[in-house]
Amino acid sequence: MKRELKVTSDGSPTLYSEKWDQHYHSVHGAFNESMHVFLLHGLKTLDSKSVSILEMGMGTGINVFLTWRESRGAVQSIQFHTLEAFPLAKEEWSQLQVGTTPRELEVFDRIHNSSWTSPTEIDKDFILRKENADILAWEPKRNAYDIIYFDAFAPSTQPELWSVEIFQKCRRALKPNGILVTYCAQGQVKRNMKEAGFEVERLPGPPGKREMTRARKPNNPSEKPSYTVRVYGILEKDNCLLVSRELYKGVRMFKFPGGGMEEGEGAIDALKREFVEELNLEVEVVDHLYTTDFFTASTFDQDIQVISIYYLVHPVDESELSTLNVDELGTMPQNKKESFQWYPLERLSENMFTFTTERAAWRRLVKLRS
Ligand SMILES: C[S@@+](CC[C@H](N)C(=O)[O-])C[C@H]1O[C@@H](n2cnc3c(N)ncnc32)[C@H](O)[C@@H]1O
Repeated sequence: MKRELKVTSDGSPTLYSEKWDQHYHSVHGAFNESMHVFLLHGLKTLDSKSVSILEMGMGTGINVFLTWRESRGAVQSIQFHTLEAFPLAKEEWSQLQVGTTPRELEVFDRIHNSSWTSPTEIDKDFILRKENADILAWEPKRNAYDIIYFDAFAPSTQPELWSVEIFQKCRRALKPNGILVTYCAQGQVKRNMKEAGFEVERLPGPPGKREMTRARKPNNPSEKPSYTVRVYGILEKDNCLLVSRELYKGVRMFKFPGGGMEEGEGAIDALKREFVEELNLEVEVVDHLYTTDFFTASTFDQDIQVISIYYLVHPVDESELSTLNVDELGTMPQNKKESFQWYPLERLSENMFTFTTERAAWRRLVKLRS
């Protein structure tokens, strides 16, 4: 990947990438841009003494360096997490010569020499975590950051990084009231941010640009609940388990019968109701098998955390099992959206279940039976 050193209008250095035909900063002043967008309208607007920063695109490390330099005076404690898919080689960053004092030059070197696998204390109260990751594939920890420096290449070059999905990811990563700042002020980008649930603000831009954008995660970003509780029953007959095959929003699911718990309803009542609604079968709970004990988000809405409860169940009237409306074992019938089938236990395996939580319940069941 060819990258050339450029000196910008304020005398500070940046790189030019041939691959993207883009400069890493504004040619009207790399330091000016970074100070204006990320520090003045970003970090310096936060009054917390302990700040957690996420940067999209570490590049030259200039944003990291300036944040370190500026945070010294403010006596802020900084946790700086930066993502970069294409880290610079030593020959590239060492020619940048960022910093004027010996201390600054040393810190800039430390920023680049620090590990890509574990956090490094660059200075007292300044922890840097560099991660060699692709923003597109990366999943953030939720509610973890006070501020995001969104510093990807321009949307004309990398439109996929300025999408609603990426901004939703950013919103999930931010704490409530957390902010995202970027040099970009394009209309479509701001619309994507709004669609992702941000409150968007236009601010004066750095030299050479009329505007920049600051987006805030509202305290209560949507009316949607952030949890859903689902209840499932494991029903056995003649060494077979009843499974549900379902096609929903284009996803083919292989799971146990059950459904969502409604407000004001208990888990066991919800399970009994679901069995009656879906199978016209009254069941009673024999035992609790498993409840999700790790974080998992809904396949259909990444903003919603799913907690599933699995019970071993038994029919109230055993004779009803013989008249149950089930399909032949196999794939889902063409004319149906959901099909119930008896699966011989020896033909079932963990990988057949669609969701991680279902797989965990299956493992618990196998352990219980062994
Ligand atoms: C505008 S430059 C960032 C400048 C940087 N903040 C600095 O201070 O020098 C954009 C950066 O995003 C990186 N990048 C491009 N696509 C990426 C992706 N999919 N995931 C992570 N980083 C990416 C580029 O390699 C580049 O370093």
